[in-house]
Amino acid sequence: MTTSTYLFGDAPPDTRDDNAVMLDALAGMLDPFSRRQLRRVGVRADARCLVVAVGASCIAATLAEMAPHGDIAATDIDLTPSRRHPRIRLIRHNIVTDPLPDDGYDLIHVRLLLAHLPTDQRTAVLTRLVDALTPGGLLIVEEFEPTWRSSVLSAPDPDEADRLFAAYHRAFGAVLTGSGNDLTWGRRAHHAMRALGLHVDTNGHTGTWTGGQPGCLLPYATAGVIRDRLTAAGMTPDDIDAFRTLLLHPDLVVKGNLALSHVGRAPTGS
Ligand SMILES: C[S@@+](CC[C@H](N)C(=O)[O-])C[C@H]1O[C@@H](n2cnc3c(N)ncnc32)[C@H](O)[C@@H]1O
Repeated sequence: MTTSTYLFGDAPPDTRDDNAVMLDALAGMLDPFSRRQLRRVGVRADARCLVVAVGASCIAATLAEMAPHGDIAATDIDLTPSRRHPRIRLIRHNIVTDPLPDDGYDLIHVRLLLAHLPTDQRTAVLTRLVDALTPGGLLIVEEFEPTWRSSVLSAPDPDEADRLFAAYHRAFGAVLTGSGNDLTWGRRAHHAMRALGLHVDTNGHTGTWTGGQPGCLLPYATAGVIRDRLTAAGMTPDDIDAFRTLLLHPDLVVKGNLALSHVGRAPTGS
C-alpha cells in the first residue's frame, strides 16, 4: 500500500547527501522566521507541543526552550536527520496513516509537508490536527509560494541565470504537480484553516542569499535529489549541471521563495 506520496520519500540512495543538504538548507532558511513567529504568538511555559515532519529543523528545540515545563514531541517518517535534544520526544511516525501520538495540544507546528500530500490526505490530516488542539490552541502551518522563475537579483550573466531558473521553475513545478503537490496550497492553507473554524493570521518572509548559502543550497540539493524527474519533465542534464554550478557561484544573489506562516487559533469555547 502507498502510505505517502512525499516526493523525496523514494529518493535513490546515492542522493542521501543531497537530501541532508536540502533539509539543512530548509532549516537555515526558515528556522529564524518560524522562531520569530513563535515568539510573536507566545508559548506557555507548560505548553504541550507537537512538531509534525520535523526534518532537520530546530523548531522543536525552540519550543523546548520556550516551554521549560511543557511536553514537546516531534515526528517524522525518517528521523535520521532530526536533531536530538533531552527535552524532545522524537517519534517515528507517518502523519497520514498513524494515529497522533496524543491529543490536547496547545501548539502544533507543521512546515513544508502538507503541500506534498494529495488533497484528500491533506484535508484529512489538517482536520485531525485541528481536532487535536485544546480550546485556544494554535496550529501553525508554514509553506512556500513557488516563485523560482523570478529569483535572480544578480548573477555573472543575469539573462542566462533567469533562463536556468525559469527552466527549473517549469520542470520542478511539473514534478511537484505530478506528485500530487498543490502549488496553490502555500496561500490557500489560510482558507482551509478558516473553514475548519480557526481564527487565522498570516505573515510572510523572504530572504536574500548568495551562491552557496542556504537559499541557494536548497535548489542545488533538490535538483540533485530529483535530477531524473527534472530531466523527465524537460530540463536538460546540461541545464541541471549549469544550474547547480551557478547556485554555488559567489556572485549569484537570489531572493528566496516567499514563505507564508499561517497561525490558526482554535476557539476558546467561552
Ligand atoms: C520538505 S521536508 C520539511 C522538513 C521540516 N518540516 C522543515 O521545514 O525544515 C518534509 C519532511 O516531511 C517528512 N515527511 C514526509 N512524509 C511524511 C509523512 N507522511 N509523515 C511524517 N513526515 C513526513 C519528510 O521526511 C521530511 O522530513
